[in-house]
Amino acid sequence: MLARLTHKRIVLGVSGGIAAYKSAELIRRLRDAGAEVQVVMTAAAQQFITPLTLQALSGNPVHTDLLDPSAEAAMGHIELARWADLILIAPASADCIARLAQGIANDLLTTLCLATKAQLAIAPAMNQQMWAAPALQANLTVLRERRVAVFGPAAGAQACGDVGEGRMLEAVELASRCADCFETGVLTGQHVVITAGPTREALDPVRYLSNHSSGKMGFSIARACVEAGARVTLIAGPVNLPTPERLVRVDVVSALDMLAAALAASQSADIFIATAAVADYRPEAVAAQKIKKSSEMLTLALVRNPDIVATIAAHENKPFVVGFAAETEKVLEHAREKLLRKHLDMVACNDVARSDIGFQSDDNALTVIWKEGSQVLEKASKSVIARQLVAMIAQRIKADN
Ligand SMILES: Cc1cc2nc3c(=O)[nH]c(=O)nc-3n(C[C@H](O)[C@H](O)[C@H](O)COP(=O)(O)O)c2cc1C
Repeated sequence: MLARLTHKRIVLGVSGGIAAYKSAELIRRLRDAGAEVQVVMTAAAQQFITPLTLQALSGNPVHTDLLDPSAEAAMGHIELARWADLILIAPASADCIARLAQGIANDLLTTLCLATKAQLAIAPAMNQQMWAAPALQANLTVLRERRVAVFGPAAGAQACGDVGEGRMLEAVELASRCADCFETGVLTGQHVVITAGPTREALDPVRYLSNHSSGKMGFSIARACVEAGARVTLIAGPVNLPTPERLVRVDVVSALDMLAAALAASQSADIFIATAAVADYRPEAVAAQKIKKSSEMLTLALVRNPDIVATIAAHENKPFVVGFAAETEKVLEHAREKLLRKHLDMVACNDVARSDIGFQSDDNALTVIWKEGSQVLEKASKSVIARQLVAMIAQRIKADN
């Protein structure tokens, strides 16, 4: 299941063998499946295929030198070792396999392999006689004992004219073996769109109407969805929060902006989670100039904003839609009414009258309602609540199918 590669970070090590030309296609396959790829080449590999080709295909500069101060200043070897979720060496030459087995770190690729906590995998490629050599087989035994995954090789006609074992697996097969290295999360392969934070409704060039939403709950849910394997689009109102890793963030200001972004993103969404505190009303007109302090009373005319979550839930091929209800009284009653009126699949209710949880707090507690039932998520940090909610959403989707 190639979807497991979504947003995964793969360092592709290329060592010196004829099969290096197949690495170009492998990069395409990995990127098509949603993985990010950084390429590291040995000196010998560069005699077989140019870094320029692999740079163009991976979309990143190719790393070749361990002792290059300028490369270290950009993404150094330790950074690269930490960045990787998986290091795959394809092709893995007999020489490279020997150096790995010995723990030798005399170039960038082998140093990375020692410096990483990531899963290591190799796709050996060599002449059948080299493959059968006792020294090579002994080195492989050592690597297997250290839980290095060995992909292939396949048997067949070889570049040198021999027929036998030692051909590198094809790119499509290698991409699939890489995917197998990653566990399936409960939302693997799903596209989740999340709205978060407040909206700002302009009164004049310097003033706006807004609310106290911090966006923390929506950002925590976005992180939990990424952890669960989903592809995430996070539509954020004006908040003061760093962008979580491995998702697409779309910044918006007003409710109308948020609606446009939500409609665009939700065309391909499987799940839509509306945590944003969208302003119900906006000023009827935005004054072109700053409104002057003149009379004792100022009356503002407000018009209704569109209901974003209801608009998405009204679509024919709607995603699984989760709404949030921030209520100060009759919390459950209002939430159930919202579920039915807006045709939502789930509503998570916050009791914003409680001072220990909610808007600006790092903690939350929710009562989650769906048509046939409900569940209380007791007070916990927003990241814990987010993971619990994501698990519930996955469960409901499974139950509905
Ligand atoms: C034309 C040619 C083809 C080669 N093909 C392979 C190969 O397929 N597999 C292999 O293990 N070594 C092959 N070698 C030998 C390696 O390139 C050599 O062992 C080199 O030192 C590997 O360096 P590296 O492990 O740093 O990439 C080949 C050498 C030449 C000259």
